[in-house]
Amino acid sequence: MKQKTPLAGVIGWPINHTRSPRMHDFWLKRYQIPGHYVPLAVSSEGLEEALRAMALLGFRGVNVTLPHKERVLELASSVSETARRIGAANTLTFREDGSFHAENTDAYGFSQNILQQFPDWKPDAGPALVIGAGGASRAIVQALIDARVPEIRIANRTQSRAEALASHFGPCVSAIGWSDLARGVDGAVTVVNATSMGMNGNTPLTVDLHGACPEAIIADIIYEPLRTPFLEGAAAQGFRTVDGLGMLLHQGRHGFESWFGEAPVVDEDLRVYVMG
Ligand code: ATR
Repeated sequence: MKQKTPLAGVIGWPINHTRSPRMHDFWLKRYQIPGHYVPLAVSSEGLEEALRAMALLGFRGVNVTLPHKERVLELASSVSETARRIGAANTLTFREDGSFHAENTDAYGFSQNILQQFPDWKPDAGPALVIGAGGASRAIVQALIDARVPEIRIANRTQSRAEALASHFGPCVSAIGWSDLARGVDGAVTVVNATSMGMNGNTPLTVDLHGACPEAIIADIIYEPLRTPFLEGAAAQGFRTVDGLGMLLHQGRHGFESWFGEAPVVDEDLRVYVMG
């Protein structure tokens, strides 16, 4: 069933917190595309059937959020190299025959967001510290590997998860102790909070950043609030900071372009609209 009006959406469980529909609605309006992007609550039990139904209904593709990002790899008929390495996908594109391709654009979103704001960021000039070892960390570590970071240090409250992540990605990634963050910061040119610490109501993350390179980029994946205590602390120490909203917006560009046919731009108007 080929729809004239392009349809796309986002599937997850729960789905009410996603900001992706606001982002895509903004772009659809900006580029005057008569398409629709809808949030769809899909449970784990209903995932396979929902994907089949969406293909049948003529959806061009969907974004995938928790808890389906890993499972969709098994259901896809093709998986990009990046998605396979990360072990998760966030962007699916349907083909005419109902099969779909799975891509992960989180790593791209992470890097592009920093580069848009700080084009002189040289991630390969020194080590990076990634704090956290969940799904977001995997994409960020992949982005840092792609950017040829020579040494990636992972610190996580649960040490075993940091070690598992390090052994998955290979020799340039190592786990450091949670109480050893200062050593992880030493000489770093990139420091990333990839935990949920600092999100509205959660315990904030505090890290002594004194040992980092003076021109280091300090990034957070959190965007509620936009300015986390971690970023405020870093800015107060004179570091360049990057909030988590840009990563969300940049990861959405690839899907929009492949479903709606226009390469969208991330700018301040979009940021304001999505947070509004
Ligand atoms: P995601 O897939 O979005 O990264 P996740 O897999 O739940 O989500 O990971 C959340 C990350 O935040 C983990 O690294 C988690 O640490 P644990 O592996 O020890 O659970 C981290 N995190 C959450 N709350 C934390 C807290 N209060 N202190 C330290 N780390 C925390």
